[in-house]
Amino acid sequence: MESYWITALCSFGAIILSAIWIRRRSWEQLPNYRGLPVFGNMFQVKRERPELTFTEWAKDLGPVFSVKMLLKQFVVLISFEAIYEALVKKGKSFSDRATKDAFRMGKLSDQFVNIVSMPANSTWVKLRKVCHKKIKMYDTGMKRIEDISTGTINHLIEAFKNTKQESFNPSDYIYMYNTVMNTIMTLLLCRTFSTDSGIFKKIAHFEQGFRLNILPAGRGAELDFCPWLRFFGNETYKQIQSLVEVRNQIWELIKEEALRGDKLLQENEEDVRLVTALKDAMAEEDSELSEKNLRGAVIIDIVFAGTSTTSNSLCIYLNIITRHPEVQTKLQEEVDKVVGSEIMATIPELLRYSSVAPLGATHMSHEDTDIQGKNPQPERFLGDDGGLVSASHHNRRHLMPFGAGPRVCLGEVLAKSRIFLIITSLAQKFDILPGKVSAPCDPRLLLHGAVLSSAKFEIVAKQRM
Ligand code: HEM
Repeated sequence: MESYWITALCSFGAIILSAIWIRRRSWEQLPNYRGLPVFGNMFQVKRERPELTFTEWAKDLGPVFSVKMLLKQFVVLISFEAIYEALVKKGKSFSDRATKDAFRMGKLSDQFVNIVSMPANSTWVKLRKVCHKKIKMYDTGMKRIEDISTGTINHLIEAFKNTKQESFNPSDYIYMYNTVMNTIMTLLLCRTFSTDSGIFKKIAHFEQGFRLNILPAGRGAELDFCPWLRFFGNETYKQIQSLVEVRNQIWELIKEEALRGDKLLQENEEDVRLVTALKDAMAEEDSELSEKNLRGAVIIDIVFAGTSTTSNSLCIYLNIITRHPEVQTKLQEEVDKVVGSEIMATIPELLRYSSVAPLGATHMSHEDTDIQGKNPQPERFLGDDGGLVSASHHNRRHLMPFGAGPRVCLGEVLAKSRIFLIITSLAQKFDILPGKVSAPCDPRLLLHGAVLSSAKFEIVAKQRM
């Protein structure tokens, strides 16, 4: 019981896409609920899903309010207008990350040397630029990448067929995760890995450990405020230490693979691998990049951030369509004709509904400043003419599953194109039906973690005639 309270006391590690830690004193005057001396609002906030508490509080306190956790003051922004103002209009001011009181992330990221966790400095700009350039290339029809990519989707379809219409768990690593992970490996190394290879197993292990140990709040977050707990046998700390080892092993394996790939390159063949681009950037004269930056960018920013979010969104999608067959039927009707607006509308609706990264990542202002989400309904993204509403339409503008502004998700384009391809390929070939195990698909009941995921459920993939 006592350890529960210690955890609860300290359970507010990183805050959030919609909450920004402000330095300015005047922010203390914002609407707030009175908390306890020293502990502040710690006991009033839902430990594992703080965003659910904040959504409730916003009904009373309004869209901008402050929250106190231990002696730290946070500002929560919950309306589109307030979030847009902070992340876009004043994006530059709010583009830093809070690294203080982020002990767990510090350990896993080698003291914040990767894109997600580093302050918005020149190294961050350089790393973002190199990665972004290669990510953009992914969908430009480059033959080698396209062949590998088609292969990974065909592999998924075969894996679904092999279930022979028996109930199975699509969150098993051999399905969605495999497809998404190999998309990422293609981007990095221009090759794929089987699920029984050492590198695949280590990455899957790292993904699970990271997802479950870096909860924004809840279990393990006590280490952020009280790092000294590591000297007293803290369980999360032990897990983080072992994850750091796995992270280093994965990096060594990736380097070996990169060397092997170097030897396989044909004369005059363009080297499209992201690892090469990063290595070249590090070798540039006056480069600020170190091997630690590369390791952080590859393992946390590309492998973890790319696979966990996308594969969990896809699993949540499968759960949703078993409960909302009307959504599936409409999708299939369109895929059978030509891919059209219903699918284009389902993707933003999936991202809105599942919101696997509801708190985004902590933003921190680096200067004094001021500021002022039931059932899936893809139709909200369709206009009167049945087409996808324009990007400036209220419902699309208000959708920010990838964040916004200078720190917008680096993989947005890649994630959307993969989700599109995977959803359409499956809709074409299978009717996805409920299996023997069910789990709620209500977004408020998703399992918490660095990325939200669905509780265990099963589906049946019935081949369409
Ligand atoms: C469904 C899939 C995805 C979702 C919902 C998602 C969501 C997000 C969110 C909410 C943020 C925080 C933005 C902010 O701080 O304002 C973020 C940042 C980031 N994402 Fe994603 N993401 C997805 C896929 C990907 C993929 C495929 C990659 C890489 C290949 C990626 C790499 C990153 C990186 C590197 C950042 C940090 C950007 C920075 O701090 O400058 N994400 N993502």
